[in-house]
Amino acid sequence: MAEADGTERSRRGFLGFLGAVGLGWLAAALYPILRYLSPQAPPDPFGEDGRALVEQIAAVEVSRPGMGRNGKYGNRGLILFRNQSGTLRAFDSKCTHAGCNVAFEGERIYCHCHGGTYDLDGQNIAGPPPRPLTELGVVEEDGLLYVFRLTGGTGSEVGS
Ligand code: FES
Repeated sequence: MAEADGTERSRRGFLGFLGAVGLGWLAAALYPILRYLSPQAPPDPFGEDGRALVEQIAAVEVSRPGMGRNGKYGNRGLILFRNQSGTLRAFDSKCTHAGCNVAFEGERIYCHCHGGTYDLDGQNIAGPPPRPLTELGVVEEDGLLYVFRLTGGTGSEVGS
């Protein structure tokens, strides 16, 4: 009788151990899947000082009116150019229609996905984009270009 109780207890203990191992394994397997599926806010491209270094565009490449090109800041795309008045302008390159990267084309900003067209103020002037591009502030410091978030800007918010 005592031996039967001991066997029963050890069998229950073993089954409990198996159940705990199974639950642990299930949690370890499900955690990365649930984390992948859950929406997460994109990382903020701006540093603690509120600005982000412009990558892939050297200051000399936008040194004269009309010069401009596509580049990056943080993990996002941007367009940076010097307008005919000599002012540096920058826009997040995410099209406000479906999120493709727009391209600087000298006289206009163009989205090759569906033909969306913006003027050099970032205003949507043709095609399906519903809103202007998001403008960024630009500053040149020690030969490097930085962009920063403009308050009260147009278009969609950067980082959202
Ligand atoms: S994503 Fe740019 S026009 Fe559609």
